[in-house]
Amino acid sequence: MSQDNNKDANENFDNIESHEYDGIREQNNPAPLWITLLFLVTIGFSLFYLIHYFGYPGNERDQASEYAKSVAEWESQQAVLKEANQADMPELSMAQMIEKGKGLYEKNACMACHGSGGEGNSIGPNLTDNYWINGCSVENVMDVIANGRPTKGMTPYKNMMQEEEIKYLANYILNSMVGSSPVNPKDPQGEACE
Ligand code: HEC
Repeated sequence: MSQDNNKDANENFDNIESHEYDGIREQNNPAPLWITLLFLVTIGFSLFYLIHYFGYPGNERDQASEYAKSVAEWESQQAVLKEANQADMPELSMAQMIEKGKGLYEKNACMACHGSGGEGNSIGPNLTDNYWINGCSVENVMDVIANGRPTKGMTPYKNMMQEEEIKYLANYILNSMVGSSPVNPKDPQGEACE
C-alpha cells in the first residue's frame, strides 16, 4: 500500500489509533457504554459473591460452616425426637422387658448370627453360656448391640432401635437366654462372667 492510500484511509476513519505495524492500523471502537457498565457490574457482583459465599473468618457462609450448621440442626432435631419417643416408653418390669426383648430378637434377625435360641453359629458367639467376649454387664451388652463390632461381624443397631429397645434386648439376653440350654450350643468364647 502506498503512502497516499494510507492518507486516504486516514481521512475515512477519524478514529484510527496512532500505532501502526506493517501498514496495519487499529481502529478505536470502544464497547457501548451499556455493555461496559454491565461488565463492571458483573465484576462487582463476583467480588461480592466470592467474599460472601466463600467466606472470610467469622461470616460462616463457607461450605464447611454451612455443613456443620445443618448437621448441628439435624442433630438437635433428632435429640428432641428421641426425647419425645423415650418419654412415650413406660417403665417396664423385668418380665415385660424380657418379653419385648424376645420379640426384638426375632424382629431384628439376631438369630441369623446367634441362632434362634442364642446358641450361636458359625458367625456369632453363643449368648446362652456365661462367657463373654465384650463383658457381661447390661452396659457392656447394650454397647455391643448399639455400636456393634463391625470389624468382627456384629451389626451396630443404634440407628435401627431406640435406646430403650436395646435395653430390653440386653435384659432378655442376660436374664432369659443366659443359663438356658439350647440345642447344639456353640463352644464358649471370651471370659467367664464373675
Ligand atoms: C451379621 C451377624 C450378626 C447379627 C445380625 C447380630 N450379631 Fe451379635 N455378634 C455377631 C458377632 C460376630 C459377634 C462377636 C463380636 C466380637 O467378637 O466381639 C457378636 C456379638 C454379640 C454380643 C456380645 C457377645 C460377647 O460374647 O461379647 C451380643 C450381646 C450380641 N452380639 C447381640 C446381638 C443382638 C441382640 C442382635 C440382634 C439385634 C445381634 N447380635 C445381631 C454377629 C451378629
